[in-house]
Amino acid sequence: MEVSELKKAAFDDFKKARDEKALNTAFKKYLGKDGQLALVLASLKKTPLAKRRLMGRKANQLKQELLALTEQRKEELRRQERQAKAESDWFDITVPGKKPASGHLHPLTLTQRKSAEIFQQLGFSVIEGPEIETEWYNFDALNIPKEHPARDMWDTFWLKEPKSSPKLLLRTHTSPVQVRYMEKRRPPLRIVVPGRVFRHEASDASHDVQFYQLEGLMVDRDVSAANFKAIVQEFLRRFFAKPVKIRLRPSFFPFVEPGFEIDMTCVVCNGKGCPLCSKTGWLEMAGAGMVHPAVFRAAGLNPNTWTGFAFGMGLDRLTMMKYKINDLRLFYSGDLRFLDQF
Ligand code: FA5
Repeated sequence: MEVSELKKAAFDDFKKARDEKALNTAFKKYLGKDGQLALVLASLKKTPLAKRRLMGRKANQLKQELLALTEQRKEELRRQERQAKAESDWFDITVPGKKPASGHLHPLTLTQRKSAEIFQQLGFSVIEGPEIETEWYNFDALNIPKEHPARDMWDTFWLKEPKSSPKLLLRTHTSPVQVRYMEKRRPPLRIVVPGRVFRHEASDASHDVQFYQLEGLMVDRDVSAANFKAIVQEFLRRFFAKPVKIRLRPSFFPFVEPGFEIDMTCVVCNGKGCPLCSKTGWLEMAGAGMVHPAVFRAAGLNPNTWTGFAFGMGLDRLTMMKYKINDLRLFYSGDLRFLDQF
């Protein structure tokens, strides 16, 4: 090949190289050990003397030019690369930032806080009690002696307690705090006790082995069931921000007399009947009643002097009604697709 042809081809290839890798390939093709230029130089031996000198000079000159061109292209490519990087690194400071994911409260916590707030506005103090309870406070002090069939209502998680300790259990309701509180504070009193309770029972859409209750207790000289109804109705009206239909059914709890249960219309089906409300249109929200004389006595109070009402409301069910949730087990599932909606 003529040196001039080689020069043209080499310059084309060097210019076409878009990155350092391509440039290296072109370098090897022309200036490598077995490259095109080496072939030309090798062929000089067979070239007639007259032509050989001129060709040799041209070939060496081309070599110098290609070496210079390599350096020049390398520099150009690096400059281009720096520029491209600077362009891709550029960012628009006026674009709104990405919002960092922040935590939020669990729906049951929201209900617990809102309920406590409403009862505080109605003059009740918020009290806490232990989740590990003694047999005495959970049952005996509430007029539920050992062999009493009412104990069957609460399938209990019993604990292995150390010797000489009273029998311990995970509280099955928040009612034990009634007696704990009345032992320390004399009436008149108004308290609510939110907290977690545990029952060893089968779970379904409206039952779980752990759930939250809000206990209420009001004791004074002349407290009536009418007072209770007014308080619970006002609480629900404020909680749901609209009047709520409730009904009171006679019921039995050994620690109240008379006792009743409070149902509210199922808001999930609007009272038509669905799996959550066992197709009745009503959901049981709370047990309640007038404090039994035996409970006053267990707390060291005179039942002839004091009267009171007590109730135990299911906070999970209240939350389900508020947010139209049809399965209570979702609260404890830890499923973020569910929790992120609050
Ligand atoms: C009691 O626990 C009584 N201590 C309530 C009470 C207090 C009566 C004071 C009288 C005076 P009961 O077992 O019915 O009662 O439970 C009260 C409420 O807790 C129910 O109305 C319901 O809303 C809720 N509840 C009961 N069992 C479960 C469960 N397994 N899962 C979710 N919520 C439940």
